[in-house]
Amino acid sequence: MNAMPSAGPAAASAKAPYFSVRNIHAYYGESYIVQGVSFDMAEGDVVALLGRNGAGKTSTLRTLARATDPELKSGEIWLNGAALHKMRDFEAAKHGVQLVQEDRRIIPGLTVEENLQLAQIAEPKGWPLERIYERFPRLAERRHQEGVTLSGGEQQMLAVARALARDLKLLLLDEPYEGLAPVIVEEIERIVAEIKQMGITTIIVEQNAVAALQLANRALILHMGEIVFDGSAQAVLDDAELRNEYLAI
Ligand SMILES: Nc1ncnc2c1ncn2[C@@H]1O[C@H](COP(=O)(O)OP(=O)(O)OP(=O)(O)O)[C@@H](O)[C@H]1O
Ligand SMILES: [Mg+2]
Repeated sequence: MNAMPSAGPAAASAKAPYFSVRNIHAYYGESYIVQGVSFDMAEGDVVALLGRNGAGKTSTLRTLARATDPELKSGEIWLNGAALHKMRDFEAAKHGVQLVQEDRRIIPGLTVEENLQLAQIAEPKGWPLERIYERFPRLAERRHQEGVTLSGGEQQMLAVARALARDLKLLLLDEPYEGLAPVIVEEIERIVAEIKQMGITTIIVEQNAVAALQLANRALILHMGEIVFDGSAQAVLDDAELRNEYLAI
């Protein structure tokens, strides 16, 4: 192995990060909420996005997924060369950005299977249903049941399964353990850990910061719409003062 690494100008210039958020500002009407957030992620990074209630975590995720509310007024969002900041939510989803919201957004009147099929109406598709049912046997058992009648934990599984049913390049999870019994939390944790193993770039917002930090390799702390910490997850676990100042733990 004596081949020399190539060392032209192209090799010297830094490779563009897989996901790059550059100075984004977003508003709900007149309310200025996301106040100049910037960070980069390498492919396969798992970032815990933390901060106190009202810090702007949900608003940041919604901005990244290109929801209309809050409205992105300036800044850039790049995923694998795609300019997300120029897109609407459905276009960002086609480019692989899948937001699993806290309320899970299961569509009433549709069965589990129909919820999954609906996710696959638009190309490009992700996992085929057989693969989803193999990984989520509870969903397979309940495929003909109306999605909104599932338990909270099962609905969370369906919401994650729906993201996997689409082309998934960036998974945005907003409080996936919220309101779930500990045994179900463990089950969802195993699923998220598998998603990490698959190398899917993920941002996880979680009130239970310790659980999120144990899963993540990196952490961002938001405070009043701004990033006040960007570093390793371990650094936050090790820094009680930092946690005390910006987190409720
Ligand atoms: N639809 C909205 N219209 C106006 N202001 C909003 C709206 N949604 C959220 N906000 C405000 O934006 C700020 C950030 O809220 P956000 O929900 O992003 O915080 P969060 O960090 O997710 O909080 P939590 O931990 O409680 O979920 C808060 O001050 C909130 O009141
Ligand atoms: Mg929130």
